[in-house]
Amino acid sequence: MRILSAVGMSCALAFSGSALASDKPIVVKFSHVVADKTPKGQGALKFKEVAEKLLPGKVEVQVFPSSQLFGDGKELEALLLGDVQIIAPSLSKFDRYTKKVQLFDLPFLFDDMEAVDRFQQSDKGKELLNSMRNRGLQGLAYWHNGMKQLSTNKDTLQRPEDAKGLKFRIQASDVLESQFRALGANPQKLSFSEVYQALQTGVVDGQENTWSNIYSQKFHEVQKNIAETNHGVIDYMVVTNAKWWDGLPADVREGLQQAMDEATKFANEEAAKLNEQDKQNIIADNKAKVVQLSKEDVEAWRKTMEPVWKKFEGDIGADLIKAAQEANQ
Ligand code: LMR
Repeated sequence: MRILSAVGMSCALAFSGSALASDKPIVVKFSHVVADKTPKGQGALKFKEVAEKLLPGKVEVQVFPSSQLFGDGKELEALLLGDVQIIAPSLSKFDRYTKKVQLFDLPFLFDDMEAVDRFQQSDKGKELLNSMRNRGLQGLAYWHNGMKQLSTNKDTLQRPEDAKGLKFRIQASDVLESQFRALGANPQKLSFSEVYQALQTGVVDGQENTWSNIYSQKFHEVQKNIAETNHGVIDYMVVTNAKWWDGLPADVREGLQQAMDEATKFANEEAAKLNEQDKQNIIADNKAKVVQLSKEDVEAWRKTMEPVWKKFEGDIGADLIKAAQEANQ
């Protein structure tokens, strides 16, 4: 009798335990490499806020900024292993998973962020969100950061010749490597979290990034010049593990997609504001000089970087490049 009731008791406990377990919210870890006060940082926090409001008690979103959980080198792997559920790498960091997304790294491809946006919202742009499903990655959205500027620790940075022989930190992208080789410079692939120190110690002379990344990482404090080249774009693809996403209860998946749509709208509006603000902050700080380029200067940079396009046309696809160009109106 005593044995029977002990069995009954443990069954009841096991049952209530499993009921409790299924009542627990689904934990969604969102890891990224930039600071909170950046377009991506703000987007991630907005996603948490909206997702938890739409799915109360059903999901808990944990945001890990500034490479706290995983840095550049590891975050895609961690996503595929299920150690994190959402990440938003820059479009330059998908090299190993698809050659098509390298499109976004072609120098001087887009005239401005409006053109980038038009392309991302086009059929061809949206197709790219699904282009890595065979590698286990599902794209959920594009998020903007902004146009890239070029900085160095040298006294002059006006013409492409000024970059010759210098060492530049680049993101892990073969297109960007080729872009700096076209300038006669030496590119070095480094994780985002390593850039400040590499600039400070002179391991590299310069780098390319958006105003918001330059300011939030204090790169302007260890550089002499930042030329307003607008020669390329840093944007993001928010990606999840396709298997995890497909396996979510339908109501949760729909709620998370809705939260993602709202966060995307918010992040993209913030991106333009934050980049403009941070450009002004850098000017006001007066540590690095912001160099304005003439039309002729910009044309010289464009011409020097042009050979990169031909080199990667086969990998990326001429049709995709054409579609992107058509987004410039
Ligand atoms: C970089 O590595 O410079 C950027 O991609 C960082 C980021 O996520 O904006």
